[in-house]
Amino acid sequence: MTDALDQATVAAYLAGRFGDPYLYEPECASTQALLLGADLPEGAVAVTDHQTAGRGRHGRRWEAPPRTAILVSVLLRPPRERRAPELSLVAGVAVADAVDRATGLTSQIKWPNDVMLNRRKVAGALAELAGDAVVLGVGLNVNQTRAELPADASTEPASLRTVTGEEHDRAAILGDLLLRLESCYDAWCEHGLDPLYPELGARNFLHGRRVSVNGVSGTAGAIHRDGRLELLTDEHTTVTVESGEIAYER
Ligand code: BTN
Repeated sequence: MTDALDQATVAAYLAGRFGDPYLYEPECASTQALLLGADLPEGAVAVTDHQTAGRGRHGRRWEAPPRTAILVSVLLRPPRERRAPELSLVAGVAVADAVDRATGLTSQIKWPNDVMLNRRKVAGALAELAGDAVVLGVGLNVNQTRAELPADASTEPASLRTVTGEEHDRAAILGDLLLRLESCYDAWCEHGLDPLYPELGARNFLHGRRVSVNGVSGTAGAIHRDGRLELLTDEHTTVTVESGEIAYER
């Protein structure tokens, strides 16, 4: 396995609009920063082998040793009527599909933006707005060993390698992920979350789990068609949550 993510290697796996143009840096601060405010067409992709200031949600850092992970951002110009926060669920479906194909296992989506394999987080998505554009970043842990995963992560992390015991071809997974993302994104642009709704339901990691979010505790229910998470509170009322940091029981 060559295991490189430069354009010459990944070109063999790029079959759609996403990845045209394909910007590759061996190292950069953050792939998000390469695309935020860039005068590039929708589908432009930035990829690196190492981020020195990788960004996670809630102001956290996103870290991975060089050449172990997929660190990718895509420039999107969604229609005005779509709600950009839903894009982390769109990414979740695409990444979960790519993870399943790479591993032969069934991954889940932990609302609103994590992909879980064997109850551990293997990927996260981050959508950042820049005017009318959105930069959607995905970090997917592929070949890290257990010792290379962050020890202080808020959700217990894993990589495809720690779950399957095998190393995986990052270029092939990246190509597949970009194709899946393009198809999920196109469906969302046209119809919103409706076409992705069955898969979001089937992969809903939090469903039935005890959670607390924004100071409210209860049992998580369905992900609604508008992307909100349903919560049956301890006071027996049903509320829907638009965003927030979820704490959950395993
Ligand atoms: C999360 O907190 O779960 C979201 C993590 C998103 C990380 C990716 S890695 C590629 C892109 N560049 C960044 O700096 N962040 C995103």
